[in-house]
Order: sequence, then structure tokens, then C-alpha cells
Amino acid sequence: MYSSSSISKRLVLVPIMVVMATQLLLMRTVSSLNMTNAYLHHKCLVSYSMMAFGDEPGMVSVTFLCRGDSFGPKCRSCFATAQSELRKRCPRDKGGIIWYDHCLVEFSSSDTTGQINYDDGFCMPSAKNVSGDRISFEKSLLVLISDLTRIAVTKKQRPPLYAAGEKRLGKKKLYVMVQCMLDLSEKGCEECMSHNVVHYQDCYKQKQGARVLGRSCNFRFELYPFVDPKSSPN
Ligand SMILES: *[C@@H]1O[C@H](CO)[C@@H](O)[C@H](O)[C@H]1NC(C)=O
Ligand SMILES: *[C@@H]1O[C@H](CO)[C@@H](O)[C@H](O)[C@H]1NC(C)=O
Repeated sequence: MYSSSSISKRLVLVPIMVVMATQLLLMRTVSSLNMTNAYLHHKCLVSYSMMAFGDEPGMVSVTFLCRGDSFGPKCRSCFATAQSELRKRCPRDKGGIIWYDHCLVEFSSSDTTGQINYDDGFCMPSAKNVSGDRISFEKSLLVLISDLTRIAVTKKQRPPLYAAGEKRLGKKKLYVMVQCMLDLSEKGCEECMSHNVVHYQDCYKQKQGARVLGRSCNFRFELYPFVDPKSSPN
């Protein structure tokens, strides 16, 4: 099973920004925001109890995923930081998962390819509550997550199983991204996302932003442009 680490409140509140903004609006916003790649959370695998029979003891598989708008050198540097930090944080364990703002790395001694991991998720809500019409905010959020998930699982989507978008809400704008691990099928991605949308609703409901992060899928929403909705590696 996994043991949990604590999440620093300070890091939760630091707004993290994105590069590669192409729009004038985004460029102005980007210059004023923090572009660090923050550590978010980790879990160490402390026993063999989750292992499937037949797995070779000592076999380690490394899985990683960069956020859809993080590619090239940015993705490689996140991976390098994350994997060395995971070795430090879980030195005597059978494996573990570490989440950074721009990537996720897992060391595992069992093969879980294609399986949805519902156990190792967590939610980091923004401190601020939604002001104004909370019901319409929530409705827009759920519609956007569901629309983006549908886009993410379309075959031609690049990067695959990822989508980001925005929606105007009166004077504000809601920014959302969704992403699944690449070992999931389109159906698995949709299942994982719908599960997390329901499972973590008490955490993110009425909040101005939140990250719901897991081993198999994640989503994030904010009232500021933390992600470039148009970015793509091509
Ligand atoms: C960005 O965040 C880092 C880490 O939280 C902090 O040390 C740094 O001062 C911040 N930079 C700006 C310009 O806010
Ligand atoms: C946000 O709303 C919750 C639930 O209504 C309340 O308990 C909490 O104090 C509010 N937080 C802030 C920062 O206003």
C-alpha cells in the first residue's frame, strides 16, 4: 500500500504559470506569474500487497507523464527532477509516485498497464471560494470538464488524452485542463475522469480552483490562465 505525504499549504497557493503563450492576453498574464515547476505530493509503495501474482520480484518499471503543455526540454527537466526526488523520498520502498506541477513519475515493481488506479489520487483545492452564482459556476465547470474529456479521447488529439480549454463566465474566465495516463484506453480515460469528478466533489466544489491528481488521470481548473489552451508540441 501507499503511505501518504503531507502537502505544503504554501505550495498550494503559489500560482504556477505556463510558457509558450501565443495570445497577447496570455503573454501579458504570463509575465506577471510564477513559472516554477513545484513539487506537489508523493506516495511511497511500502509493501508488496498490491502486486499481481507472477510479477518478477525486483523488476522496476518507470512510468512518467508530462502535462500536455509541457514538452521538450521542459518535460525532460521535470522528469529528471522528479525521478531523483522520488529516489530520495522513497529510498527503501518498493516504488512510489511523485507529482510535480508539470509531470508525474512512478516507479513500480508490478505491471499495472491499462488498469485504472483509483487509490492514489488526491485533491488540492484553492483557498478561495467562488463568489457570485455558485450553481452556474459549477454547472459550467462540469460541462467544460466533460466536453474536454470527450475531446481528449478523440483519436487525432495531440498530445493524446489531453485537452485544455476556457469559458467566459461574466467578467471572469474559467480555465480547465484534463489529462489521462497514456496506458489508458479512451474508455478508461473517460471512466477515470468521471470517477474523480464525483469522488472529489466535496473537495473542489465551490472553490475558485483545484487540482484533482491521480496516477491514471487528472484535471485542474482555475480562474486564471495556468495553461495555454492552444499549446501543442507541433
Ligand atoms: C516563485 O516561486 C518560488 C517557489 O515558491 C519562489 O521562491 C519565488 O520567489 C517565486 N518568484 C516570483 C517572481 O514570485
Ligand atoms: C468557503 O466556504 C466554506 C463552506 O461554505 C466555508 O466553511 C469557508 O469558511 C469558506 N472559506 C473562505 C475563505 O471564505
